[in-house]
Amino acid sequence: MADSTNGSSSFWTQANALFRKNLTFQRRNIRTNLRLILFPLVLCLLLVLLQTIVNIELDKPSNKCGCTCIDQNGDGQCERVCGIQYSDLDQVATCSIPSPPEWPPLLQVPDSQFRAVRTDFLSFGDLPNDSCRSTGSCPITVLMTGNNQSLGESLARNIFPISSNFNSSNGLANVVLGSASETQIFNFLEPAFFSSLPLYHVQSQCRANSTFSISIPLASTIMEKEIICVQGQHSWRNSSTDINNELYAGYRKGNSEEKINEILAGYDLLNSNANNYNVTIWFNSTYKNDTGNGPIGTVRVPRSINLVSNAFLQLLRGPSTQMLFDFIKETPKPETEIRLDFSSLLGPLFFTWVILQLFPIVLTALVYEKQQNLRIMMKMHGLGDGPYWMISYAYFLAISLVYMFCFVAFGSVVGLKFFTLNAYSIQFVFYVIYINLQISLAFLVAALFSNVKTAAVVGYITVFATGLLGGFFFQFFLQDTSFPRAWIVVMELYPGFSLYAGLYEFSQYAFTGNYMGTDGMRWSDLSDSNNEMSHVLIIMIVEWVVVFFLAYYIDQVVTAGSGARKSPLFFLEKFKKKPFSSFRKPSLQRQGSKVYVQLEKPDVAQERERVEQLVVDQDRSHDIVCDNLKKVYPGRDGNPEKIAVRGLSLALSTGECFGMLGPNGAGKTSFINMMIGLVKPSSGTAYVRGLDIRSDMDGIYANMGVCPQHDLLWETLTGREHLLFYGRLKNLKGAALTQAVEESLRSVNLFNGGVADKQSGKYSGGMKRRLSVAISLIGDPKVVYMDEPSTGLDPASRNNLWNVVKRAKQNRAIILTTHSMEEAEHLCDRLGIFVDGSLQCVGNPKELKGRYGGSYVFTMTTSSNHEADVENLVKGLSPDAKKIYEISGTQKFELPKEAIKIADVFRAVENAKSRFDVQAWGLADTTLEDVFIKVAREAQPFDVLS
Ligand SMILES: *[C@@H]1O[C@H](CO)[C@@H](O)[C@H](O)[C@H]1NC(C)=O
Ligand SMILES: *[C@@H]1O[C@H](CO)[C@@H](O)[C@H](O)[C@H]1NC(C)=O
Ligand SMILES: *[C@@H]1O[C@H](CO)[C@@H](O)[C@H](O)[C@H]1NC(C)=O
Ligand SMILES: *[C@@H]1O[C@H](CO)[C@@H](O)[C@H](O)[C@H]1NC(C)=O
Ligand SMILES: *[C@@H]1O[C@H](CO)[C@@H](O)[C@H](O)[C@H]1NC(C)=O
Repeated sequence: MADSTNGSSSFWTQANALFRKNLTFQRRNIRTNLRLILFPLVLCLLLVLLQTIVNIELDKPSNKCGCTCIDQNGDGQCERVCGIQYSDLDQVATCSIPSPPEWPPLLQVPDSQFRAVRTDFLSFGDLPNDSCRSTGSCPITVLMTGNNQSLGESLARNIFPISSNFNSSNGLANVVLGSASETQIFNFLEPAFFSSLPLYHVQSQCRANSTFSISIPLASTIMEKEIICVQGQHSWRNSSTDINNELYAGYRKGNSEEKINEILAGYDLLNSNANNYNVTIWFNSTYKNDTGNGPIGTVRVPRSINLVSNAFLQLLRGPSTQMLFDFIKETPKPETEIRLDFSSLLGPLFFTWVILQLFPIVLTALVYEKQQNLRIMMKMHGLGDGPYWMISYAYFLAISLVYMFCFVAFGSVVGLKFFTLNAYSIQFVFYVIYINLQISLAFLVAALFSNVKTAAVVGYITVFATGLLGGFFFQFFLQDTSFPRAWIVVMELYPGFSLYAGLYEFSQYAFTGNYMGTDGMRWSDLSDSNNEMSHVLIIMIVEWVVVFFLAYYIDQVVTAGSGARKSPLFFLEKFKKKPFSSFRKPSLQRQGSKVYVQLEKPDVAQERERVEQLVVDQDRSHDIVCDNLKKVYPGRDGNPEKIAVRGLSLALSTGECFGMLGPNGAGKTSFINMMIGLVKPSSGTAYVRGLDIRSDMDGIYANMGVCPQHDLLWETLTGREHLLFYGRLKNLKGAALTQAVEESLRSVNLFNGGVADKQSGKYSGGMKRRLSVAISLIGDPKVVYMDEPSTGLDPASRNNLWNVVKRAKQNRAIILTTHSMEEAEHLCDRLGIFVDGSLQCVGNPKELKGRYGGSYVFTMTTSSNHEADVENLVKGLSPDAKKIYEISGTQKFELPKEAIKIADVFRAVENAKSRFDVQAWGLADTTLEDVFIKVAREAQPFDVLS
């Protein structure tokens, strides 16, 4: 037997019901899901394709170490030999260099137009006149200081060799070479020998023809390079502070050529003496090519150390002693490949799109349930907010996790460095936190939308805009290390940008990892000063928590259980105060109702008294008690306020079916909206099985069934699945559930021919209607509201439905609205005609007909010259008869029932037939329709009054 005690079903029962429904729903949507998961796959494959093209380009011979074919052992067969000597300059970088060439150590010489001269911003007179800059013949200067000037000066005289001819048999070791060219990351090829800038040899005095040439073996050729003499001089300064100031003042600023004074080096001899050699050196580390990442200029510093050391040695030991600095040489390296990881370059943009794509999907799913009013429908059948949130959240989380897993798995399988190089644990943590944040955000944003299409459009625009803004705006700030980090953190507060920043860091680590042949991001890298990942993770966790609770709060306060959405049955109420505002003092409302009390018909007044008595006695025997229920919609846009329900009092006991009749716009819908908790009453209240609709709606939902005017069904679920879901919500389990569903399907005639297992989207209108009625009755609810249950049904189905309702009403109270008088008469024990916000009459159909009808309608058609005869005949039957209609021989009369015996009428007509020619005649009882029209017409003046 079905459990019909109906406490609210437990949290887990509801969660289970919703979970199973969602699972079924998901199975139906398998195609959409596949498409969704294919999206990252396609993108990954696209990246692989691009990567392949790039790799093919990079693997072309012009980008690899040069090779040639040489017959090495003289057998006429040539072997392929690769190496630096067969490569051009573009290829050299990739060659293996087992024995790197030796290069003479160089000094970093300032360019001739920048060398230190006498200027107006420095007071030193020992520098050369600036006329030398125009001829390019300025000497280069070293600055000296120290505690003992005489020692310093004599040491400085030994720094640069005294002019002497170049003697090639001694090699280049005792020639002081220098260049103004930039250094590079690798020193396999000293750029000074290949740059267009001159190579210098520094002497204390240059002779007229002191330029000579040297030959350098390079690859397969010998390269001739001219070496120009430049004069080196020294200047004494009294303190290191002077040198500092001078260097600072002469620093080149940007491209401006004023105030430039560059020196070769500065030496501070400190406390050096014959027994103690103690020196500090100033050098310019800014001479470097920026593509490297360290002070590469230091490669040219050792020579300046050697110069001063050599000078000190010669001061002590005489000029014959020399400290030679022969060459500089890189460490050997194997052959390398040029690699460019495309996924890391395009990754942040593409992957931002891939991950953000989930956002509109979650958003539209949430808005769909809202737009279709499915959420409120579930709520009305007892689904609490807790289980709804938990299961919906878990459901979207599961989908997102599967999606992200596929994404990372595809990326890894196709070998994108973005995924394979970075630690999977960091990726996992990052993605999980982000998708949680994204789902919470979708819940929050869903509160703003009531239309799926708008939500989808806005969602997708956000996705693309975020990706583009990230790639072409935000990334520049990330790359600019001088940009304040605090502002970057501010921008990362936008979740799309924190996602982008995280992906960007992954891509940077993967890119350099791939280029340098090392790992990508590891946990230890999180402490790197310019790694945004740790900020991003913290920001996302905090936002997730905040957004989650905010979304829940807004859902509770603004949307859930209020009219802020389009209600399933009826109309849209835009503004909703917090639920707490509805506790009003009952005493305030009585005054207003008095006006109507006086105008009320006795039957309505009697119902009101009955209700007041029930309320005073705290009588709980009735299923539904409406106590002076009122609804007033505030005036908007200059319209006056609209009174939808004016103090309705009504009591229904178990087993009663109450029919509400009324013209459109009479307020029936507002009344039912209040009863099912969509709208809070303006004043008054109603009790459903003793529970107050203002405060105990959740308790009421457990015992309530609703059949809305428009069917609220999931298109892809079958009838059986709908009933299973709602049955579970109503606490039915196992065999009881199966049995209840079967009975229910049978009773609404949806059982045969496999109809129950067809998707409801394929049902005809009538089938949907019957399913809705079945839903409202499943789980044995004690109170059921049906809004025009039989509209759109063929007569057979309608009869079927009536039988269902008739059977169902035996142990529950039903309120039913309808426009079909036949239906009302057939189903309802009592009827109320509702016009302009108040009940005009209450009673069972017979009573009403008696009260408002109370007469027969007698029609007779004769030729026009016998009209007077007919009138006499009727007057003879009853002197109170009224003529209500007359046209060319046809006349209609109303005869009061009490005064008439039907037999008399027949006799009189037979009698008349013998006297004159009666073409046709009829006698009819009043119908409910006549009553309805009469009551509605009588009530019209209220419209004018209000
Ligand atoms: C400075 O150095 C010279 C040797 O070059 C030495 O004769 C002289 O005593 C030193 N002066 C001081 C104050 O130490
Ligand atoms: C070059 O140096 C060698 C040995 O140091 C010497 O024999 C030769 O004469 C020098 N040549 C010149 C032109 O000075
Ligand atoms: C150091 O080198 C940089 C770059 O070439 C240059 O701009 C700057 O003026 C130099 N500073 C000095 C003091 O020579
Ligand atoms: C070298 O000079 C520095 C700075 O004046 C001084 O602190 C240090 O003691 C000196 N070292 C020696 C060995 O004299
Ligand atoms: C650095 O070196 C590369 C390759 O030699 C060159 O293309 C680039 O222009 C250099 N950069 C600067 C700032 O000179």
